[in-house]
Amino acid sequence: MAYIIDGKKISLEIKNEVKNEVLKLAEKGVKPCLAVILVGENPASQVYVRNKKKACEYVGIKSLSYELPSDISENKLLELIDDLNKNSECNGILVQLPLPKHIDEEKVLLAIDPKKDVDGFHPYNVGLLSVGKAFLKACTPAGCIELIKRSGVDISGKNCVVVGRSNIVGKPAAMLLTAENGTVTVCHSKTKNIDEEIRRGDIVIAAVGKPNFIKGDMISDGAVVIDVGINRLENGKLCGDVDFYECEKKASFITPVPGGVGPMTIAMLMKNCLLACEIQLGFELGKNRAKDI
Ligand code: GUN
Repeated sequence: MAYIIDGKKISLEIKNEVKNEVLKLAEKGVKPCLAVILVGENPASQVYVRNKKKACEYVGIKSLSYELPSDISENKLLELIDDLNKNSECNGILVQLPLPKHIDEEKVLLAIDPKKDVDGFHPYNVGLLSVGKAFLKACTPAGCIELIKRSGVDISGKNCVVVGRSNIVGKPAAMLLTAENGTVTVCHSKTKNIDEEIRRGDIVIAAVGKPNFIKGDMISDGAVVIDVGINRLENGKLCGDVDFYECEKKASFITPVPGGVGPMTIAMLMKNCLLACEIQLGFELGKNRAKDI
């Protein structure tokens, strides 16, 4: 039976670490600030944004909230981002995705100052990640790495299999695992003999968006299984990309859904806001933290 990694507990540890650092900044008269932009009324996005603002309140980061109508023009959104880029009191800018179809997502992400890109989605930050020099890393894959490391698992030298190649999770997860000296395979919809590839993984990160895709016979005995999937079943229940019931019997460590990777995304967002603030102020603390990547 696998050890079940408690993402809620680990995310709380991280938020408390951030909270302590924010208190230290307060002594210097600094309060980090995150701008959260939501366009339209997508119910899932509304929940995510509410949780992000709640986390800011918990750790002591100021949040600026922009709730814009779904028919706002691309230009108006770009103007707001430009204002926030120039506003020295704002340290981080988050545009909740997805955006309405008439707005070019790529253009919007490119408009955010890379130093304020707390999602780590700007191509500049993706580029830094690919050369092993990232400071603002995409929150969900960075959260996966924290879950693995804080469970006492050493990634170095391990066969790591990432299932899924999205820009938001799969690709950055592969780069982060490489930076930790893992030997990385990325599987996707065109991968031949995908079961065999996944079975070679000492560490498996599943981010395919297909409920219960990874079955017990697809993982090796003792594998560490990290499930990024959040799928809503017809009965209203949430389930991951991993068949938890089957894989729990074979894995050494496994994350549940909910309560695994999910809470980590927001904790890592808080960490990125702190880091962005420190870097913008030129604090040594921020520079040192950036090095430990
Ligand atoms: N939509 C779903 N996940 C995310 C995320 O991590 N960041 C943003 N900005 N939008 C999202």
